[in-house]
Amino acid sequence: MKIRTIEHVDVCGKFVLLRDDFNVQIVDGKITDAFRIEQSMPTIKALRDAGAKIAIVAHRGRPKGQRNMEYTLQPIADYMNVPLIPDCLDKDFLSSMQNGDVVLLENVRFYEGEEKNSPEFVAELAKRFDLFVNDAFAVSHRAHASTVGVAEILPSYAGKLLADEIKHLTAVMENPKRPMLSIVAGSKVSTKIGVLKALAKLSDTLIIGGALGTTFNYAMGAKVGNSLYEAEQKDTALEILEFAKQNNCEVLLPLDKGVAKEFARDAQRFNKDFTQIEADDVIIDAGIATTERDTEAIRQAKTVIWNGTVGMAEWQPVWSFGSFALAETIAEQTRAGKLDSVIGGGDTVAALEACGVKDDITYVSTGGGAFLEFIEGRTLPGIAILEDK
Ligand code: 3PG
Repeated sequence: MKIRTIEHVDVCGKFVLLRDDFNVQIVDGKITDAFRIEQSMPTIKALRDAGAKIAIVAHRGRPKGQRNMEYTLQPIADYMNVPLIPDCLDKDFLSSMQNGDVVLLENVRFYEGEEKNSPEFVAELAKRFDLFVNDAFAVSHRAHASTVGVAEILPSYAGKLLADEIKHLTAVMENPKRPMLSIVAGSKVSTKIGVLKALAKLSDTLIIGGALGTTFNYAMGAKVGNSLYEAEQKDTALEILEFAKQNNCEVLLPLDKGVAKEFARDAQRFNKDFTQIEADDVIIDAGIATTERDTEAIRQAKTVIWNGTVGMAEWQPVWSFGSFALAETIAEQTRAGKLDSVIGGGDTVAALEACGVKDDITYVSTGGGAFLEFIEGRTLPGIAILEDK
């Protein structure tokens, strides 16, 4: 895929509308994970250094077209130390901008026209800008006004982060070192069918874990107690297992689990295999035998793709056992130069951060849903529009 990037254009003195994904978690007005913001900085710096006048357009949360200040971008403007323009359609500030200046426009999802990609809203948003740069990989699977609409009417280019995501994710999908291991976990089979099939086709081994894995265990006839799983996805799970078999992909399902009598952070942990799980047991994490087998599979692999934690990784230290063991083994092997590792998804990246190994991974994607759709081989509208035909 060839896309137009900012290296292909002279931005000096130009008004640049830059789309970033700053949809980060904020607790009590404080950003708890600035990864997406930090990853956006190289493009902002490159545009500033080249003398552009930059207005960043971004969203946070799902305010459904309403001006709901719960979703203001003020904490992000404060973090970046740039002015926040309270209305993303305001143009008055442009006349006082100097080359290299940066402002952040208030949440673009305060307008209904954003998600509807309405032509009137697109025209207002794009007005007075000379060009558009998309650096928001994480929202490029949405055909919204600020990802696709403005790109249709302004000369448009990919920023460095977007170009980097495409480069790394394409490389791992097209030319992985083998054996290749994929780890897919999380909660819902329904949101991961596409990615499970795509990875079953591509990988030598596929680990299915977390509540997702529990659904597969259930489909295979195991007792899963009072745990989170999707009984209605039984046939889909069996179909995916059959699909993997046809594609010569070995699937590793959970062998045992960390369980408790209640779904609570401070609940007592027991390790049980599926013959031992009782009706009132709740699965909260991967078990010891599963984790030993999975970390050994990582040691045998030359490429690992990972999305989704295998337990409640945020309930440390008791229930983060399985996810942290995977993270630490992947990091160890990558540091030793034995593994190419590509990891995406908010919870998974948070787990890497929590056990202090994020910088050891070959490539950490900023995408959640966008990462899954890209891996699945789907066309992301915000990227397709930047393609050099
Ligand atoms: C994300 O956080 O994955 C992106 O910002 C997209 O958010 P959305 O799912 O609300 O469109």
